[in-house]
Amino acid sequence: MANTWRVPYVNFPVQWAEEAELVRECIEAVFSRGDFVGGGAVATFEAEAAAYCGVKHAVALNSGTDALIMSMRALGIGPGDEVITPPNSFVASTAAIAHLGATPVFADVLPDQNIDPEAVANEITQNTRAIMPVHLTGRVADMAPIMDLAKQHGLQVIEDAAQAIGSLYDGKKSGTFGDAGCFSAHPLKNLNAGGDAGFVTTNNGDLAENLRRMRNHGLEGRDTVLEWGWVSRMDTLQAALLSMRLARLDKVNARRRHNASLYHELLDPLHVFMPPERKIEHNTWHTFVIQIERREALKAWLAEKGIETAVHYPVPLHLQPAAIELGYREGDMPETERQAARILTLPVNQFLKDEDIEFVANAVNRFFAA
Ligand SMILES: Cc1ncc(COP(=O)(O)O)c(C=O)c1O
Repeated sequence: MANTWRVPYVNFPVQWAEEAELVRECIEAVFSRGDFVGGGAVATFEAEAAAYCGVKHAVALNSGTDALIMSMRALGIGPGDEVITPPNSFVASTAAIAHLGATPVFADVLPDQNIDPEAVANEITQNTRAIMPVHLTGRVADMAPIMDLAKQHGLQVIEDAAQAIGSLYDGKKSGTFGDAGCFSAHPLKNLNAGGDAGFVTTNNGDLAENLRRMRNHGLEGRDTVLEWGWVSRMDTLQAALLSMRLARLDKVNARRRHNASLYHELLDPLHVFMPPERKIEHNTWHTFVIQIERREALKAWLAEKGIETAVHYPVPLHLQPAAIELGYREGDMPETERQAARILTLPVNQFLKDEDIEFVANAVNRFFAA
């Protein structure tokens, strides 16, 4: 698909131009062997992803959504259990809880868009089984108080780290704090496959074993079905691509950090709120989200100038039609709702040049000056 934006939100043609030879090598390796499913590249990627994150196990699956559903299921979460999660995430986090027959319980977020540990504490009941923080935008949620709460109340922690591969909190990688870290390698992510893919990180050997079995029909060996499972294997080709890209990820993330710091320098703080990065954080800027007045007008103004933007996400999950039976109403999650009307995602991808960021920042500043 040709990109007609002056400053595009993502840029697959440039990624292709940079990596064509490497991608061809991955394709040739897999097609010449014919090990399309369960090939050696899958185990190789798993070992590399585990080492990169600093955990004992990584289990490659076909999506971040399955990473969430299958890890929670393997941890025994089901009907009657409440799982506390933020309402401003991508639909998959809450849907995963609902698909298991468990009840999503929303806790409002902080100005930095991540779940508020105090709001989590207020939602804990006798039925609470787990907390699912979402490391939105590439910023790790405030994990120290969340882990304290989990210990205090005997709760499991499933990190939705889909947007935060390589991000740090107090020197520790995302996806390594709780019982399971769930990652997406969807084409739009910082570490992106050529289709759907995801994985789980964990130090729990039983959980890893269960996931490896359940992604492959519940089979142990070739002929014994221990439990009815699914088909949620990562394709060998995706694993090969992800290994190639994992080796380049720190550079990708460094470039995105550079772009974000330029925005912080250039955008007018009088009109544009950008949650500051705290000392213990190291964000990887999956998205660069500003909070502003007159969002729709600014979005249109930027589009006129050839700047592609997005909104992550305009309708909070507690107000979605699918959530009606959970009984939430407008006003229940004031900070999330306030942000939903004010957030705008600016392009921050690793292919942008300093002059692109300057062009966007100038356009935003001129809108508010006008
Ligand atoms: C926060 C969050 N959770 C979960 C997912 C689901 O990942 P996938 O699209 O790989 O199923 C995404 C993907 O967009 C996400 O952004």
